[in-house]
Amino acid sequence: MCGIVGFVGKKEASPILVEGLSKLEYRGYDSAGVAVLKDELIEVIKCKGRLKNLEDKLSEEPIKGSIGIGHTRWATHGEPSDVNSHPHSNKNESISVVHNGIIENYLNIKEWLISKGYEFLSETDTEVIPNLIDYYYNGDLLDAVMRAVSDMEGSYALGVICTKEPDKIVAVRKDSPLIVGVGKEEYFIASDIPAVLNHTREVYLLEDKEFVVLTKTGVEIFDEHKEKVSKDIYHVTWNADAAEKGGYEDFMLKEIHEQPKAIRDTMASRITKGNPISLDKIKLTKEDLENFNRIYIVACGTAYHAGVVGKNIIENLARIPVEVDIASEFRYRNPILDNKTLVMVISQSGETADTLAVLRESKKKGCRVIAITNVVGSSVSREADDVIYTWAGPEIAVASTKAYVTQLVAMYIIALYFAEIKETISKKEIEDIKEELLSLPEKAEKTLEKKEMLQKFAAQNYMHRDMFFLGRGLDYAVSMEGSLKLKEISYIHSEAYAGGELKHGPIALIEKGTVVVSTITQMDLKDKMLSNIKEVVTRGAKILAVTFEGNNDVEKSVDSVIYIPKTLDILSPILSVIPLQLISYYMAKQKGCDVDKPRNLAKSVTVE
Ligand code: AGP
Ligand code: GLU
Repeated sequence: MCGIVGFVGKKEASPILVEGLSKLEYRGYDSAGVAVLKDELIEVIKCKGRLKNLEDKLSEEPIKGSIGIGHTRWATHGEPSDVNSHPHSNKNESISVVHNGIIENYLNIKEWLISKGYEFLSETDTEVIPNLIDYYYNGDLLDAVMRAVSDMEGSYALGVICTKEPDKIVAVRKDSPLIVGVGKEEYFIASDIPAVLNHTREVYLLEDKEFVVLTKTGVEIFDEHKEKVSKDIYHVTWNADAAEKGGYEDFMLKEIHEQPKAIRDTMASRITKGNPISLDKIKLTKEDLENFNRIYIVACGTAYHAGVVGKNIIENLARIPVEVDIASEFRYRNPILDNKTLVMVISQSGETADTLAVLRESKKKGCRVIAITNVVGSSVSREADDVIYTWAGPEIAVASTKAYVTQLVAMYIIALYFAEIKETISKKEIEDIKEELLSLPEKAEKTLEKKEMLQKFAAQNYMHRDMFFLGRGLDYAVSMEGSLKLKEISYIHSEAYAGGELKHGPIALIEKGTVVVSTITQMDLKDKMLSNIKEVVTRGAKILAVTFEGNNDVEKSVDSVIYIPKTLDILSPILSVIPLQLISYYMAKQKGCDVDKPRNLAKSVTVE
């Protein structure tokens, strides 16, 4: 999920690899390494931590050679450590691999390879790759990589070197980015263009399942049937800064657009048609669940908002009482905790001080603690009894977007897992929800297509000082997140209110021209929500509604409507939050705010 580079040419490879990796640092990473081939020997230097550590090691023990591969790792399988860092090799170190992505079926492959006598040193999914290539190697590296890849499920960009064919790098991609840089008698692979821009502006943009063989005399590209592919060279005209953001103006916008992939990745290998839900290595029996008399979900900010959705769906689907609380409140309110309590902490960074304190306190009191986090090896992941990773990839913008939707996905996975064990809903209902969940990445893409309307709405309304977000049930939970996003990055004051609660006070604030964004996706509450809308319209409010396609009657009650694709009411938060994120983004842009680094905020709050 972070970066790979590769170089073949006449110069020394290792400085070029390190320089390339430094241009990929923005993608986030926790360890780095390089492998260089010379005189039919591969030397690997790798270590946990910043690139500087790798540079220091390389200056102590320089490695020579003009062909090599490099990696910055953002751990998904196995904590950040020297041994888990890439490159990974086979036992006799004749094959070295850098890998970006996740091999979903690595456990099966690993068991199979172990049965054939292979040994493993790391906890990574990646280590199966050099061993699988070794297994298939029969004098042709490209063939062996092709065969290995055909056994692999998941996402990958790979760079492979082999002492038996010391003149080449073989590379391939599927669902992870990879480009080829074409220089003068020197060729490169990289996850992203900035890594090669100091050397060339001529690149090939690879498609999924295209294989590349790079030697110092040229580049050959093949399809998965080993037919040669001829591709046009792409000439890079923009600067490195724009390239880092994948052509988007800001990381936040890029991350909003990465949500379909983040949703897909987080579901991968956990939700599959016709199979029970898989909760990675977590095993909870019916007795375990019956022993819990309560679940607490505890988190801060956006993660807390994911917890509010979690409460609703776990109670609905699995019929277990859930309380959700803000970590900084929970830790000081002397909550009732014992071994009959299941505590779930949610944290993108896994380092939030208050959330960590809740985890520690809960463990001390004998609770079982499950952490839902995006960062492998983070403090919460190390200290919790069980971990469910969200696979959003590194989130760089301070305002959380893709991490939130993956936290929601984790909540659905957990709720369905509990429901399946407790048999609180029928198998058919579970299959229906799973099928609909699997369609959400595509529906999220469609929701993103509404951005122009939202941009227009922002242009017309950014000068307001206050806004309201209204909703009922799950729509209220999503409104809370929409309101937080708006405050954080556009500095517009906003409140999220439950539709029915408005008339108990806040309606006093509604006056002519007050902007209200109302989410209407809970069909059993639709008429009630429309009545609440009437109450504010009567007092002069201007309403933008977010609702499902087909709810055309909503138009009669509001000023404008954003239609999102129809899904099950219970799953709507994953889609309905997207327009709210885009509203805050475009409002902030209109106001000229720095959306990626809003004032006064830090990405990870590691102090109380
Ligand atoms: C979200 O946009 C925030 N900047 C913030 O509320 C964040 O969600 C909160 O600090 C929790 O962080 P965590 O998920 O890393 O624990
Ligand atoms: N899944 C691999 C690992 O955890 C690769 C992660 C990455 O893309 O950096 O090592």
